[in-house]
Amino acid sequence: MTTQFPAKDSLTIGFAHVAYRLAERFALRNTGIRHFEVRSVDELAARIGEADALVVSGFWRNEFAARAPRLRFIQSISAGTDQYGRDALKAHGIRLASAQGVNERAVAEHAMALILALARRIPEARDNQAKRHWRGMVSDLARREEEIGGKTLLIVGLGRIGQRLAKLAKAFDLRVVGTKRDPSTGPGAADEVHGNERLLALLPQADIVALTCPLTPETEGLIGAKALATMKPGAHLVNVARGRCVDEAALTAALEGGSLAAAALDCVREEPLPMHSPLWLFPNVLITPHSAGETRRYEDNVIDLLMENLGRLWRGEAALRNQIL
Ligand code: GLV
Repeated sequence: MTTQFPAKDSLTIGFAHVAYRLAERFALRNTGIRHFEVRSVDELAARIGEADALVVSGFWRNEFAARAPRLRFIQSISAGTDQYGRDALKAHGIRLASAQGVNERAVAEHAMALILALARRIPEARDNQAKRHWRGMVSDLARREEEIGGKTLLIVGLGRIGQRLAKLAKAFDLRVVGTKRDPSTGPGAADEVHGNERLLALLPQADIVALTCPLTPETEGLIGAKALATMKPGAHLVNVARGRCVDEAALTAALEGGSLAAAALDCVREEPLPMHSPLWLFPNVLITPHSAGETRRYEDNVIDLLMENLGRLWRGEAALRNQIL
């Protein structure tokens, strides 16, 4: 199904995000393009019919496709696009572009921060601070701070974020091994790259495993009981990808059993993490609330992409920037 993309003066853009100031930043560009902003899924459901273009991430629901007769284009706010049902969008002639790249620096910097926080036991220091407790020196090596220089970091998903993380990690003298779908494109900033199918063979080498992969049928549950059992005893796990890449029951068991020394999780299976989740309680688990991608530049980065893609759609170009559909 192909329908002409509306001209500038008949276009309406919907911005749908819980917190980002997208409409405010967009208005500053003085494009004269009609737009509206919603701050909840319910509000989006009520106004979806008005939008020719939608800038959205977590509020998207696949049933909206059938209720959005004008909608031709979604500019995702998120780099990951696992929430968009490809078939639903295709059936309604809706194009989709990801925001890959907008938060590449932020997510890689966050992953590095988590790696350092676990190695330097920053969460423990903060917990002690809350108790006004000045911890003494420790004899037990397992409880002492560690150096990361010379250790091996395995980056699962050596895409743009993974590459950026590899570059940062090399500055800390880590040995960096990566996996990706097509390793023939080379290791880039990493020391080595391998195909995804080599994961289990590579895990025993890694002192730190960082997930930066998209959520796909291949990566769902990738870090399960088998992968966790294959990891080096005392390894650290960092997840800035998607919660569903990890089997949480298996993760909990590995933390309880002590084979995994620590985990830092920016994303979990169900977000917000439910009150009853055992993950809240582990002193060696550091949780950040899916904030790895946050940056004060977010709105402008997404609007740059949106403007470029609108330009392509108006010119009738076949390919979008970061095109998914
Ligand atoms: C964040 O999770 C993103 O996909 O951009």
